[in-house]
Amino acid sequence: MTPERTTAATSAPATRPPQSPQAAASGPSGQARPVGTNLVTIASGKGGVGKTWLSTTTAHALARFGQKVLLFDGDFGLANVDIQLGLAPVRDIASVIAQGAPIRRAITHFASGGFDIVAGKSGSGMLAALGRPQVAALRNHLLDLSSDYDRILIDIGAGVDAAQTTFTTHGGITLVVTNDEPTALTDAYAFIKIAAMRHNNPKLAVVINMASSKAEGMRTYETLARACETFLKLKPPLAAIVRRDPKVRDSIRHQQPILLRHPTSGAARDAEGLAKFLLTVTANPG
Ligand SMILES: Nc1ncnc2c1ncn2[C@@H]1O[C@H](COP(=O)(O)OP(=O)(O)OP(=O)(O)O)[C@@H](O)[C@H]1O
Ligand SMILES: [Mg+2]
Repeated sequence: MTPERTTAATSAPATRPPQSPQAAASGPSGQARPVGTNLVTIASGKGGVGKTWLSTTTAHALARFGQKVLLFDGDFGLANVDIQLGLAPVRDIASVIAQGAPIRRAITHFASGGFDIVAGKSGSGMLAALGRPQVAALRNHLLDLSSDYDRILIDIGAGVDAAQTTFTTHGGITLVVTNDEPTALTDAYAFIKIAAMRHNNPKLAVVINMASSKAEGMRTYETLARACETFLKLKPPLAAIVRRDPKVRDSIRHQQPILLRHPTSGAARDAEGLAKFLLTVTANPG
C-alpha cells in the first residue's frame, strides 16, 4: 500500500456556527436552500453491491464538476473509504468521538480528488455498537456541516437496522444501490420498505450497479420498481445504471480513483451520470 499522507490540521475547513435543521442555509456557492437537502446517503440492503466505490467515485465526479464535497464514511465497524482511495487520515471518526470533539476535527482533505473525507475506523467495536441516539447525533453534526459544502455524501453500511435508516432522515436523498441478484433486489426492497415505514415520505432513488448492459440494468430497475409500486404504493425513481466494468476492480486494487486511472471507462462515465443526477435533484429540492 502507498497511502497518500495528509494532515487533518492543515486541511480542516473554516469553523461555522451550528444551524438547526429547520433553518435556511446558503451553500458555498451562495445559493439559499433548506439545511440538509444537500445530504446524500448511499445505502443498500445487501453488502458488497458497490456502495463505497460509488460513494468515492461520485464524490470525485461532483468535485470535478466544481462542487465542494464532503464524503463521510458511515459504515461503522467496516469502514474502508480511505483504503479504497489509498489515504491515511490522521484522525478518524472513532478517535474524534472518543475525545468528544466535533466531527470537523476528523476532516481530511483528499488532495488528488479535490474533496474532503471523514474516515471511519475499520474494526472499531465502539462504532459498530452505536445506537440510534448516537447515530442521530452524528447525523445532526453532518447537518451542522451542510452549509459548508455543496454536497455531503454518506457511505453507510449494508443492512436495515436503526444505524442505517436513521442516517436517511436528513431532508436530503437516499440512494438505494442494488445489482440484479435476487438477494440484492430483495434486500433493496426491504430497505425501501423499512425506510418508508419508519420515515414519512423519504426521498429515495435507485442505483443499479454492475449491470451487464444499460438494457439489462433497466430491466432490473423495473423489477424493483414494480414490487415497490404494487406492495408499497411508491415508486423510487432511477438515479443511474452503472455497468459492470473490470476497471473498477483494477482501480480499487491500485487504490486509485477510477476517474484518474481509467477516466474514459464505462463505469467512470456512468458514475459521472450519477453525479449529474444528484446535481439535478438537489437543484430542485422537494
Ligand atoms: N460497476 C462495477 N463493476 C465491477 N465491479 C464492481 C463495480 N462496482 C463494485 N464492484 C466490485 O464490488 C466490490 C465491492 O464494492 P464495494 O466495497 O464498493 O461494495 P459495498 O457495497 O461498499 O460493500 P460493503 O457492503 O461490504 O460495504 C469492489 O471491490 C469491486 O471490485
Ligand atoms: Mg462499503
